[in-house]
Amino acid sequence: MATIKAAILGFGTVGQGIYHILNEKRQELREKLGVELEVAKILVTDASRERVPGTKHLMTESMDDVLAENNLQVVFEAIVNEEPAFTYLKRAVEAKCHVVTANKVMLAKRGEELEALAKVNGVFVGFEATVAGGVPIIKTMKNILLVNEVSCVQGILNGTTNYILTKMRAEGWSFEQALREAQQLGYAEADPFNDVSGQDAFKKLMILSSLAFGEQPNWADVEVIGIDTISSEQVAEATAQGLRYRHVAEVEKLEDGTIHAKVAPLLVNNEHPLYPVDDVFNAVTMETNYIGTLSVIGPGAGMYPTASVMVEDYAEIIGKRAGFTVTI
Ligand code: NDP
Ligand code: HSE
Repeated sequence: MATIKAAILGFGTVGQGIYHILNEKRQELREKLGVELEVAKILVTDASRERVPGTKHLMTESMDDVLAENNLQVVFEAIVNEEPAFTYLKRAVEAKCHVVTANKVMLAKRGEELEALAKVNGVFVGFEATVAGGVPIIKTMKNILLVNEVSCVQGILNGTTNYILTKMRAEGWSFEQALREAQQLGYAEADPFNDVSGQDAFKKLMILSSLAFGEQPNWADVEVIGIDTISSEQVAEATAQGLRYRHVAEVEKLEDGTIHAKVAPLLVNNEHPLYPVDDVFNAVTMETNYIGTLSVIGPGAGMYPTASVMVEDYAEIIGKRAGFTVTI
């Protein structure tokens, strides 16, 4: 049986999740895909620290070292920020590796460039994990866009902020306590300012805009308001009135063809579809011409939800390469 060699860039919450799932599902993946997958290298900033027992020999701090691996075919990327992630993935694609990324900061800005490069090099880019963690919003959208037109996409796109708002309301926790817990659970970004300021949801919204409309609005024109503007008193006052805060991202194509986007907290009552969406859950609703209103909902962050959709991306790519559709 053929062996596919893979590298994992970044070995924090998501990178470790990928490693665990690949091990736990080794046999099923082998049987369904007809290939053995071997993790050959793991890229980190500090290779002296063993995060998972038995992985120290795989660690490296050098992308040259990763790409020097003979017959490397897949690169999972779970590091942070646009650079060096984009440069690493560009090099991987030029070395004819398929790439699977969770990095929405990089993808929102450089996704088009990366996809174009991948096309030229005959490889694929999987990016399901960049938006809404374990919720398969990218695949859902890709599966309907041949004949459907999307006019509007709206939803909760950040698990950390929804978790914080939920705990402040339901448990009476302070903002700081809820954020600390979200960090411990592996939901928050390495710099949680990205979550609470709305920047993380904004990047995800821009990825959805590219998919739905083939373009993004001018970033400077998008109003982005975080949950760091909401006090405990405001949460308590809303609760007393039977209302809940949700952090909502929305992008729509207006009749004149312009794209309008906004990220901001919204007060909703119990008739609003986002009212029951608690904890780390994300929910995304699309308005389409043929299907009508379509919604997906599920865990929007965390080690296993996120890593699992990355492994699904890998399976889909390997299936495509082999010329068959993967049914799992
Ligand atoms: P962590 O902070 O837990 O892990 C980041 C990892 O990347 C660390 O192992 C770190 O190395 C490594 N790293 C960072 N910069 C570099 C670099 N320049 N070169 C090599 N390695 C580097 O982050 P997460 O796992 O939570 O997130 C990873 C990515 O996945 C981010 O882009 C995030 O937005 C995205 N994501 C996260 C989700 C989640 O629920 N956590 C969900 C969906 C997407 P070291 O260990 O040495 O510090
Ligand atoms: N920090 C992000 C969130 C991770 O909480 O939604 C998932 O992209």
